[in-house]
Amino acid sequence: MPLVNTKKMFEHAYKNGYAVGAFNVNNMEIVQGITEACKEANAPVILQVSKGARAYANHTYLVKLVEAAALECPNVPIALHLDHGPDFETCKSCIDGGFTSVMIDGSAHSFKDNIELTKKVVEYAHDRGVTVEGELGTLAGIEDEVSHAEGSYTRPEEVEEFVTKTGVDSLAIAIGTSHGAYKFKPEQCTVNENGILVPPPLRFDILEEVSKRLPNFPIVLHGSSSVPQEYVKMVNEFGGQMPNAIGVPEEQLREAAKLAVCKINIDSDIRLAMTATVRKFMVEHPDKFDPREYLKPARATIKDIVKHKLINVLGCAGNGDKCL
Ligand code: G3H
Ligand code: 13P
Ligand code: ZN
Repeated sequence: MPLVNTKKMFEHAYKNGYAVGAFNVNNMEIVQGITEACKEANAPVILQVSKGARAYANHTYLVKLVEAAALECPNVPIALHLDHGPDFETCKSCIDGGFTSVMIDGSAHSFKDNIELTKKVVEYAHDRGVTVEGELGTLAGIEDEVSHAEGSYTRPEEVEEFVTKTGVDSLAIAIGTSHGAYKFKPEQCTVNENGILVPPPLRFDILEEVSKRLPNFPIVLHGSSSVPQEYVKMVNEFGGQMPNAIGVPEEQLREAAKLAVCKINIDSDIRLAMTATVRKFMVEHPDKFDPREYLKPARATIKDIVKHKLINVLGCAGNGDKCL
């Protein structure tokens, strides 16, 4: 099937208490690992491309890789989404160049300027059947150009005006998640009975207040990698150094997905799983030099971790053929 926008996906996700996974893609193996998992789990998916991904892999290569995945997985609803669009021109270039959804991240601007910029993108996008995600509140730790040293929670009293004035289709909010593999400092965490560090809970009170003010409106969570400790351990065991990498507990994401959260962004977990697998392979096979030999297990690991997310975290498995 052709690439789809996010409208029907989110309507179905909202009504049925799950979230669609939005996974960042940067190369062929990542696209294949994610979409193979979705095919087997009958799940809809959002493949998202950042400004950094476009700079790395080239817009056309990424669009064609995603289109190839759509041909290979004809029953999987796939949206091709711009992640953290920094300005109107980048959004326009993606809309003109085959994307079905864009995010305009105006969160570093004033409330008024964010509205103005987001509205301009929405007008251009909607005329072309493309859906738009906006953002209110800022997340700490993002590593691309729209960077904020400190995060700040979304102010629920601003959301109705923002959504009404801009016409956005979904809204990313800040409730305590952040980008990257180091989301919390050990000193912010408590230690459970098994000696595992437990981060402070997400601000579900803000999510509830936002969803009361925006009934039936899809909410997006960025920075939602859980940083599985098995992969952190593997990286460290095979020559890496990722001390104190801590993510958002999966149970909290599952709870959010049952509420108004319809899109959950995951990038770091895929990077981590891929790197851990490649590191292990390199140490165990120092004589090998064919990239296919280490990218094959890396792709299989991506498929495994994505499948786990679809079934156990997002709750979207089994809905691919129902949300069209
Ligand atoms: O939100 C950020 C995503 O993880 C993309 O990261 O800008 O390094 O591609 P990137
Ligand atoms: P993570 O770094 O937690 O994977 O977040 C990714 C993200 O929000 C992409 O927009
Ligand atoms: Zn993000």
